[in-house]
Amino acid sequence: MNQSIKYYFALARSKEYQYRNILRDLKYFFKSLGVSDAIITLEDQHNFSAEDILKLDTFFSSYLAGIPLDYILNESEFMGYKFYVDSRVLIPRPETELIVEWVLGLPLNKNSTIFEVGTGSGCIAISICLKNKDLKILATDLSDAALEVAQINRGLHNANNVNFVQSNWLACSMDSSLDLVISNPPYIKPNDPHLRELNHEPSIALTSKNGSQSFLHIASQAISSLKLGGKIIFEHGYSQAEEVSNILKDFGFENIVTCKDFQGLDRYTYANK
Ligand SMILES: C[S@@+](CC[C@H](N)C(=O)[O-])C[C@H]1O[C@@H](n2cnc3c(N)ncnc32)[C@H](O)[C@@H]1O
Repeated sequence: MNQSIKYYFALARSKEYQYRNILRDLKYFFKSLGVSDAIITLEDQHNFSAEDILKLDTFFSSYLAGIPLDYILNESEFMGYKFYVDSRVLIPRPETELIVEWVLGLPLNKNSTIFEVGTGSGCIAISICLKNKDLKILATDLSDAALEVAQINRGLHNANNVNFVQSNWLACSMDSSLDLVISNPPYIKPNDPHLRELNHEPSIALTSKNGSQSFLHIASQAISSLKLGGKIIFEHGYSQAEEVSNILKDFGFENIVTCKDFQGLDRYTYANK
């Protein structure tokens, strides 16, 4: 049966109470099928192919099962670029763009040695290297599955100046060799109730023992791997600035600074060896 746009809007409206963004997300999904803005706005007639109808059925069953829109579309926007995503990787978050902006403001050049650890989809490393073609980044992840996705994104963007390697954070780096370490590691406590809303994303990307084990592990490696004067930057939870700063201080880092996100919450901390 060939369903109309009105039918799908009515279905979405009947679910709006429970899924408050469903209309917005359905419009986005229509656009991904090539339906024009005018037809969507007027809820006008559109001939969906049999394939589109199947996709719309899948959209509704996935959406109502709580699967995030980015996984349904296999697409996420970050720094103005589109990245392939699926349940093997964390969906890039807008606040993570602040780390990229900070890195792009540093006096780095083609000889700088930069590691991004816990790369997931590769969105941080790839965006930096697309914005500044002089830079090269080696990005690591422990998850082979995540690295497969990162490689897809490397190919999509021809980001030949980013390379990926499987490693336990900085384990594959050499002492006193790095100018910059970047990381948005997992930082949620394993018993945090917010995890219920994130149950479609991989737990390796979300949780860390006590919420702070990843920071401890990376800082302990980075103090050896960085050159004297080299920098480290961490994204962290809004309540973790003091803990992260203390970890960095205890390992001997200096000039520790925390910055806020768009909502005025402490979001990232950087320091110098
Ligand atoms: C919060 S996600 C960040 C993903 C991506 N960089 C972003 O900002 O969207 C953390 C990433 O760290 C990876 N990870 C977890 N433990 C790790 C470890 N011991 N060594 C390297 N990567 C690890 C996870 O697989 C996940 O991809």
